[in-house]
Amino acid sequence: MKLIFLGPPGAGKGTQAAGVSAHLRVPHISTGDMFRSAIKNATPVGLEAKRYLDAGELVPDSVVIDMVRERLSMADCQNGYLLDGFPRTVEQAVALDDISVPEAVVDIQVPDERLMDRLTGRRICEKCSGTFHISKLSDPTICPVCGGRVYQRNDDQPETIMTRLHAYHAQTEPLIGYYSGQDKLSRPGENRLKVVDGDRRPEDVFRAILSALE
Ligand code: AP5
Ligand code: MG
Repeated sequence: MKLIFLGPPGAGKGTQAAGVSAHLRVPHISTGDMFRSAIKNATPVGLEAKRYLDAGELVPDSVVIDMVRERLSMADCQNGYLLDGFPRTVEQAVALDDISVPEAVVDIQVPDERLMDRLTGRRICEKCSGTFHISKLSDPTICPVCGGRVYQRNDDQPETIMTRLHAYHAQTEPLIGYYSGQDKLSRPGENRLKVVDGDRRPEDVFRAILSALE
């Protein structure tokens, strides 16, 4: 299955993609994770992307599209993939339809007022990459699963979160029209959009996603 997760920052794309990709046995491809890894390794893409991630703005389309094109050409993507955080502009969506047409687009919807707390409270384990909310940690520095240390993402500060939300509404939300077949650039007669309410317990969101994909 070729699948996309759409949704604002903090909607739970990464949280749900971990379980859904394992269930469907397709690779979980997060462009945000790819950029963070490129920044850590100081690759040319990382050096170019860093200032955009730090500011909470979108990396230019040409950079992201080339990176995803290369990733989707790899052997593990030939039977499907779960893209998390790509596409994020109509230009990226049109390019993806040229590279490999996704079959379904799950839009995980969560109201803005919930997202600030989710994101400022997010902690990630540096050892197992698990994502947690600080309110669920008995020790705010330790991963409850593997005992590793948890850290906070650089862009999970209130001001940067506001910029990311703004970028989402201005540049990414129009993809709802694109994938439901209502944009002038949409593939004619195709509605690939599945809307899922993400404002409930993670296990309920997981079940809702699987039932939307049936
Ligand atoms: P990216 O890493 O994709 O960040 P994002 O879209 O802002 O989304 P997040 O990862 O913050 O949220 P999420 O939906 O994955 O939520 P999560 O599951 O972690 O992108 C980062 C940057 O990279 C961008 O700003 C941009 O600069 C660049 N970039 C990436 N892709 C790009 C592209 N295509 N084009 C251009 N630039 C690009 O959960 C969040 C929190 O909520 C956690 O604490 C979690 O525990 C909690 N939570 C999850 N589910 C629930 C639930 N059901 N109930 C309560 N809490 C929950
Ligand atoms: Mg994520």
